[in-house]
Amino acid sequence: MTTILGIETSCDDTAAAVVSDGRIMRSNIVSSQTDLHAQFGGVFPEVASRAHVESISGIVNLALAEAGVSCEALDAIAVTQGPGLIGSLLVGINFAKGLALAADLPLLGINHLEGHIYSLWLTPDYREIEFPVLVLIVSGGHTELILMRGHGCYRRLGSTLDDAAGEAFDKVGRLLGLPFPGGPAIERTAITGDANAYDFPRARLEDSFDFSFSGLKTAVMREATVQPADRGHRGRGVEKRAKLRDDVNISDVAAAFQDALVDALVIKTVAAVERFGAREILLCGGVSANTLLREKLSAAANLPLRYPPLALCTDNAAMIAAAAHFRLREGLRSSLDFEARASWPLSENTYAD
Ligand code: KG4
Ligand code: ZN
Repeated sequence: MTTILGIETSCDDTAAAVVSDGRIMRSNIVSSQTDLHAQFGGVFPEVASRAHVESISGIVNLALAEAGVSCEALDAIAVTQGPGLIGSLLVGINFAKGLALAADLPLLGINHLEGHIYSLWLTPDYREIEFPVLVLIVSGGHTELILMRGHGCYRRLGSTLDDAAGEAFDKVGRLLGLPFPGGPAIERTAITGDANAYDFPRARLEDSFDFSFSGLKTAVMREATVQPADRGHRGRGVEKRAKLRDDVNISDVAAAFQDALVDALVIKTVAAVERFGAREILLCGGVSANTLLREKLSAAANLPLRYPPLALCTDNAAMIAAAAHFRLREGLRSSLDFEARASWPLSENTYAD
């Protein structure tokens, strides 16, 4: 049995977990900073890295204790190397390097996106995944369509040209005066809304598997707010200053926005399935917690659809340890002087044909 300690600090969650054989979760601790960032309406990098520094040691110790595993019983340490906020990444990386050096253990720097994919290997009712699979990663920082032909074999088919899906949820949530993060808040608010109340655009970018959500965000702004341009504001970030119209029904806007965004994701994913002949669809990342997305994708694609249990949709360290298991199995490991990477395309992490 191979047992790996995973550490994840790429954004605003400090997380550590112990996973055996890439499948068996022995502990999974996540210390969320959401309340800390809610006052800013988004993640504040400096605040995030300070909070990581304060909690990393306690979280790692808790993960080991809960798993009933000592450092000597570990086979390796895995840590998120990127993409993410540099200041946040560095806290986890430096801690992992110190631990690996002290305990004389192999260290693996893992791509956060590869981690999200391997959250699918941690489902309680796991049965063997049949490659090739089409992966839709939808999170606060990423929207990627990946063709995965086997372990460590990634081909990017498309990604977002502007906002990530979760980012669009967060921005529209802020616009509607909902709490951060916007995704779960919009989903809750949309329950009582009418998705047909507005006809928001589903960007289609013909002959491409790329996504674009800025047009949708602008359309929501136009319908729901007193336009900043009318009030003398122009340029980026206007949604932060936009004022909600008095007569707007927030539930209807939330429902129509969610419906349009989900449709855009589903249309591209189904087109990619048809083009590349995938046998299954893997949905992962924070936005994969969205029920409408799960339902619509499942209905539209004539294929098995997998998504992680709710606790593993958003950032966690179990997924990092799981991804590391399959790399370690191939004899891969990182040198102790690797650097954090703010951006890091998953295709660069391909280690098998
Ligand atoms: O994967 P994640 O925890 O962090 C990143 O790597 O970005 O994803 C966080 C994102 C946030 O933008 C949040 O609004 C979104 O996932 N999210 C959701 C839901 N739960 C979280 N979006 C839509 N519906 C949800 N239920
Ligand atoms: Zn993530």
